[in-house]
Amino acid sequence: MNITLRQLKVFETVARHQSFTKAAEALYLSQPAVSMQIKQMERIIGLPLFEQVGKRINLTEAGREMYRYSRAIAAQLAEAKQVMEELKGMEQGHLIVTVASTVNYFAARLLAAFCRRYPRVRVSLDVTNREGLLAQLDANETDIVLMGKPPDRSDVIAEPFMSNPLVIIAPAGHRLTEQRQIPIAQLQDETFLMREQGSGTRIAMERFCAERGFQLSSSMEMSSNEAIKQGVEAGLGLGIVSIHTVELELEAGRLATLNAECFPILRRWYVVHRRGKRLPMVARAFRDFVLSEAERFVRTPSAFRG
Ligand code: PGA
Repeated sequence: MNITLRQLKVFETVARHQSFTKAAEALYLSQPAVSMQIKQMERIIGLPLFEQVGKRINLTEAGREMYRYSRAIAAQLAEAKQVMEELKGMEQGHLIVTVASTVNYFAARLLAAFCRRYPRVRVSLDVTNREGLLAQLDANETDIVLMGKPPDRSDVIAEPFMSNPLVIIAPAGHRLTEQRQIPIAQLQDETFLMREQGSGTRIAMERFCAERGFQLSSSMEMSSNEAIKQGVEAGLGLGIVSIHTVELELEAGRLATLNAECFPILRRWYVVHRRGKRLPMVARAFRDFVLSEAERFVRTPSAFRG
């Protein structure tokens, strides 16, 4: 059928207004131009589309069918246009993400999967601790943040996307690794390696201690998860870290988790952005991706999911 999109548009407008005059006005055309287009369509189809009843025009049966198709075609075209616009936005997109240092253990996997889907997206990834993240959100320097506990403020939107269990780690073969349900009082005399001030993990650990009346008799401060893991492995003490930071060491049997009362401490990971900020298309796509698919790319052993 050799009908043009233009003719379909004219037909759809006449059918909607049930009037050649009103359709002509709506389309900024003369009435004879509108009539001409409809006549051409009727010739191509071989059936009349309208019938005159007194002063009014009605759709014929062929006209009603054609109206249904013309609306469906118009809706499909509008949808195609929107999808093309979105793809254009994604093609030229620049994703600015900041993640908590602890998230960095799986952020690369998420970004790699996202970039496989949208290969032309440029990515800037910054890794910092909780304090650094909050400063970046304040300064509007980042689009999307992946972090532990989101700030208690109304100017950010925080959506949980995955569990983040905190576990006690010990070197493989440590005397406590064989014990079940270790009472936390028994851990009081152990040395704990703590994250630096400003770390979300540190805040969670301190809150846990305050809530349980748990006093650490001995602790050492280390400025990264990596330093804590190395320190624990070397026998400097025990550590409390996110399970997501020790996947490889647990698999390789270099570190072990302790089965202690009240552990794991159950936390969650959040995808966060400033409320009211108009997120670029690519940032919205990444947020949706994280919310719906992050768990596929990050393994949390079922024993620690709570
Ligand atoms: P962090 O991780 O300890 O690296 O700041 C964030 C969090 O767990 O809240």
